[in-house]
Amino acid sequence: MGKKVLVVGGGGRCHAIVDAISRSEQVEKIFCAPGNAGIAAQATCVPIKDTDVEGLLAFAKSESIDLTVVGPESSLAAGIADVFRANGLRIFGHCQAAARIETSKEFAKEIMLKYGVPTAQYTAFDSYEQAVEFVAGRPFPAVLKYDGLAAGKGVVIAQDLDEAKEALKDMLLDDRFGKGRVVIEDYLEGPEFSFMCFVNGHDVYPMPLAQDHKRAFDGDKGPNTGGMGAYSPLPFITAEDEAFALENVLQRTADAMVAEGKPLTGVLYGGLMKTAQGVKVIEFNCRFGDPETAAILPLLESDAYDIFSAIADGVKPASAPKWSGESILGIVLASKGYPGSYAKGAEIKFAEGFDARVYHMGTAMKDGQLVTSGGRVMMVVCTGKDVIEARAKANAAADKVLCDNLFHRKDIGWQAGK
Ligand code: AMP
Ligand code: GLY
Repeated sequence: MGKKVLVVGGGGRCHAIVDAISRSEQVEKIFCAPGNAGIAAQATCVPIKDTDVEGLLAFAKSESIDLTVVGPESSLAAGIADVFRANGLRIFGHCQAAARIETSKEFAKEIMLKYGVPTAQYTAFDSYEQAVEFVAGRPFPAVLKYDGLAAGKGVVIAQDLDEAKEALKDMLLDDRFGKGRVVIEDYLEGPEFSFMCFVNGHDVYPMPLAQDHKRAFDGDKGPNTGGMGAYSPLPFITAEDEAFALENVLQRTADAMVAEGKPLTGVLYGGLMKTAQGVKVIEFNCRFGDPETAAILPLLESDAYDIFSAIADGVKPASAPKWSGESILGIVLASKGYPGSYAKGAEIKFAEGFDARVYHMGTAMKDGQLVTSGGRVMMVVCTGKDVIEARAKANAAADKVLCDNLFHRKDIGWQAGK
């Protein structure tokens, strides 16, 4: 009998996961909660929030779901994997305790320090006065990180004491993200890259490297966003860098989490930086990266259901995941004004000759017409003989998306050359 899969989440990352699972011949039916207008073409969307663990459990039971695959960290932080496993359901994603590698900056730092994973030195504070005094006695820029989930807004790189005070006030006095602590760490410099692995206890299966682009505009200018594009491979990372990171960051962290009694069973995402002193960890995430996943999972040649299933069951996959080795590049189309305020409801059409994978991030159907419904709206993804060709194709595709309220970067992958 064909398998039934439930994918939890609703952004571009989940669309890429649904797309990868839909290529599996074993899978007969995919549900996605809550999904989005693009995902609806490949899965049945069900209106259950990704943090409504009880609602998702009831749905998975009633539909006799064979496997649940979790996209966002919020679901893992809410304990979805613990609850599903306690109810005998198979799920790809870490338990709540293991998800702390992302949900608590201080926990991640403690693990790294204890097990010798390279990262910036840090000190943690819960007192505003002590934090200000500490920052005032150190060189700027100062890196201030709220210790908890803050929807990507919990990191401030303060250039002077005034900026640092303002950020610390937000985080420690006004509790803008909730009651929490702040980690203050050394400022590192160098190109950043994303190294994701499937992890099953001690077993680590690396994915191709990718690079995100956080700033809104070309030339890495403008405000920080959730990510404006991604590509792979990365010419500035050598095979030695990659091997070093695999052994000293990803494998060491997987082993550390087993030793701590919190084995990982899902994706470990290393947000890394290649500094003059070698590769160091900027952050860990406990899930697929967004937008990187849209530029990685299309390269997966193995059956995605087999990989996710093996990890859900705590066994080795029949063979390690295989990747096509192609160059790939994805460009995010965002609503004008994003990451500030923006209008919704603009019509989206595709011009003749449009040729790219499309992963929807924030779209909706209105009276039978596809419209924008979020800040980041969709991603167009193309492969090529190299990153430059993939970029040319993706840019051509982005120009064929007809909508009067979208913008996109044209220089994604600039570190791979013009
Ligand atoms: P995070 O949410 O921890 O990934 O931080 C967001 C961004 O802040 C990163 O992508 C980096 O660009 C920057 N950042 C974080 N930590 C540091 C650091 N120690 N030194 C320099 N930049 C950093
Ligand atoms: N691309 C950054 C993230 O997924 O958190």
